[in-house]
Amino acid sequence: MQNYAVQQNLVRWSLLGILGSMLLLGKVVFAAQDVGRMLKTMADPAGAPFFPVVMQLLQVLTWALHMVFVWTSVGGLLLSIYALTKKEDNYQRLARGLIELSKVSVSLAIVIGVAPLLFYQVIYDPLWYSSANLSASWYIMFIVLLLVGYYLLWFAYFRRASTSQSMLFSIGSVVLLLFVGFIIHVVNYQSLFPERWVQWYTSGGTTMNHHGWGIYAFHPFRYLSLLVFPSLTVTGIFMMLYGWYFGKREDIGKEYASWVARLGSRVAFYGSALWFVSHILHIATIPSEWGVKGSVFSILSIVVMALFVGVAFMAQKSPVSTSIPLLLACTVNTLFIAILREYIRVASTARFGYSIYEYKVNLELLSPMLFLGTTLGGLLLYAYAWWMAYQAGRTPKGKVYEASETEHRLGDLSVFLVTLWAMVFIGVGLIVIVRNYV
Ligand code: HEM
Repeated sequence: MQNYAVQQNLVRWSLLGILGSMLLLGKVVFAAQDVGRMLKTMADPAGAPFFPVVMQLLQVLTWALHMVFVWTSVGGLLLSIYALTKKEDNYQRLARGLIELSKVSVSLAIVIGVAPLLFYQVIYDPLWYSSANLSASWYIMFIVLLLVGYYLLWFAYFRRASTSQSMLFSIGSVVLLLFVGFIIHVVNYQSLFPERWVQWYTSGGTTMNHHGWGIYAFHPFRYLSLLVFPSLTVTGIFMMLYGWYFGKREDIGKEYASWVARLGSRVAFYGSALWFVSHILHIATIPSEWGVKGSVFSILSIVVMALFVGVAFMAQKSPVSTSIPLLLACTVNTLFIAILREYIRVASTARFGYSIYEYKVNLELLSPMLFLGTTLGGLLLYAYAWWMAYQAGRTPKGKVYEASETEHRLGDLSVFLVTLWAMVFIGVGLIVIVRNYV
C-alpha cells in the first residue's frame, strides 16, 4: 500500500516536473484540455469504490457538521476573551462556560473533520494532493499548530480561576486555531486553480519549489465568510440555546440563563449581518470565468442567508423562545453554504472538462455496506446517548436522573446493537483475512 502511494506521488510529481520543464522551454500552452488531461492522469486509476455522487453528498453534509464545531471552537474562544475583559460576575461565569464549550468543540471538530477528508480525497484526489503538496510544510505545521492551540485551550481551562492567565492562554489558542483555519483555507482554495499549479510550483518556469513553504492563493472574504463571522453567529445561537435549555434548572438560575440568551441573540444578529456582508463579497469576488456568481446556487444561498439574518433580528425580542427556530434557520443556511462551496469546486474544475461523475466506479459492496451499517447503528446509538444526556443535563446538580422503564429497555437495545456491530465488524475482517490466505 505504502509503495503504491509513493509510486503515485512520484507519478504526480514527475508529471508536474515534466510539465514544469516544458513550460520552462516555452513548449506548453496551458490550454483547458491540457489541464483537464493532467487532472485525469492524476486521478487514482483504481477509481472510486462507490458512486461519486453519494460520496459528494456525504462530503458536503459532513463538512457542514465539521464546521459547526469549528465555529463553536473559535467563537467560544473569541467571546470568552471578550467576557474576560469584563469584571461583572455574569461575564466571568460566561467566560468559563465558553472555554468549556470551545474545549469540547475542538475535539469534535477534529474527529468529524476526518469524514469530509476521507470523501474529499477519494473523489477529488488530484486537487487534494496537488494543493497539499504545494504547501506541504504548512500542511504538516497544521497538525503541530492545532496541537499547541488545543493544549493552550486546556491551559486556559485549567487556569480558569485566574482571569489574566485564562485570557492569555485563550488568546494564544484562538490565534493558533485561526491560523490552522487559514492553512486549510489556503489548501482548499489553491486546489481550485489547477491551471496555475505548475506555474506556482516552478515559480513561472524558473525553478522547482520542493520546500512546501509557499502560500500561493487565499481569499480573505472566503476566509471571513467560512470561518470568522459564522463562528460568532453560531456561538451566539449556542448561548441562546443555553438559556432555553438551562433556564429550567434552579441551580443555574433563570436570570443568568436568560441574560446569556439575550447577549447571545445580540451576538447572533450582529454576527449574521457581518456573515451576510462577507458572503456577498465572497460571491462577488469569485473569478467570473467560473460562472458561479449569477448561478442559482449563489442566489439561493444569498436569499436563504438574508432570511436567516431576518430571523436573527426578530429573535432579539424573545431570545429563549426563538432559539430553536433560529437554530433551524441556521442549519438550513449552513447547508446552502456547504452546497454552494461544493458547486464552486464543481464549476472551477468543469472549465477543464473534469467531472467526478465520470470517475470509474469500482464497486466493492462490502465496504459501503459496512459503512452504511456503522452509520445507521452509530446514529441510533447516538440518538439514545443524546436523549439521555439531554434528560440528565436538565437534572439539578447533586441529583441523579432516574431513567424510565422504556429508557432502560432502549439502553439494553443499544448495548445489543454495539455488540452486534462489533461482531459483524470483526467477523468481516476475519473473513477478509482468511480469504486472502486461502
Ligand atoms: C480546529 C481546527 C480546524 C479549523 C479552524 C478548521 C477550519 C476549516 C475551514 C475554515 C475550512 C474551509 C476552508 C475553505 O474552504 O476555504 C475547513 C475545511 C476542511 N476541514 Fe477543517 N478545520 C480544523 C480542523 C480540521 C481537522 C483536524 C481536519 C481533519 C481531520 C479537518 C478537515 C477539513 C476538511 C477535509 C476540509 C475540506 C472539506 C471539503 O473541501 O469538502 N479540519 N476547515
